[in-house]
Amino acid sequence: MPRPLRSVILAVMAVAPLAALVVWAAEAPWAVVSTRAGGAGDGVSEVAVRVHAWGFSPRVIQVAPGQTVRFVAQSDDIGHGFAINELGLNLPLRAGQQVRSPAVTVNLPEGSYEIHCSVFCGLGHPAMKGRLVVGAPRPRPGSAAPWLASLAAVAAGGLALTAGALRRRRR
Ligand code: CUA
Repeated sequence: MPRPLRSVILAVMAVAPLAALVVWAAEAPWAVVSTRAGGAGDGVSEVAVRVHAWGFSPRVIQVAPGQTVRFVAQSDDIGHGFAINELGLNLPLRAGQQVRSPAVTVNLPEGSYEIHCSVFCGLGHPAMKGRLVVGAPRPRPGSAAPWLASLAAVAAGGLALTAGALRRRRR
């Protein structure tokens, strides 16, 4: 194999697991920060959201069906967007700027809805997601399956590498 090609392959092999690890850690069940919209005097609950490359804090926002909320979103780094299609909400956020959404009444069936970044912000943009949970939907039985599968894949990869190294040493 030509030398440059080999170094490219080695570099990809070194970086790919790191990238996978970052995505995997962000999806881990314990990494989910959840908030519940509280009640306010005027009947509008304010939800503060910090936005950054590439995610939302909190990542999961829970509201009661029929609740009226106002999102107060702020980007901590570069320009992003805070969008929930089902609520017709799309707030472009400039760096460091705080944006208050109009008060929106959540007239949606109980369930889980996607929050996404609506402004291209680089490599992690397509994966920049959060969730709006309306009511208390029962968790889907298989919802942790992809995460568990990736954990198993990483473990299997580690075992294969260790086995390979041991075999090489014995030779
Ligand atoms: Cu953040 Cu796109």
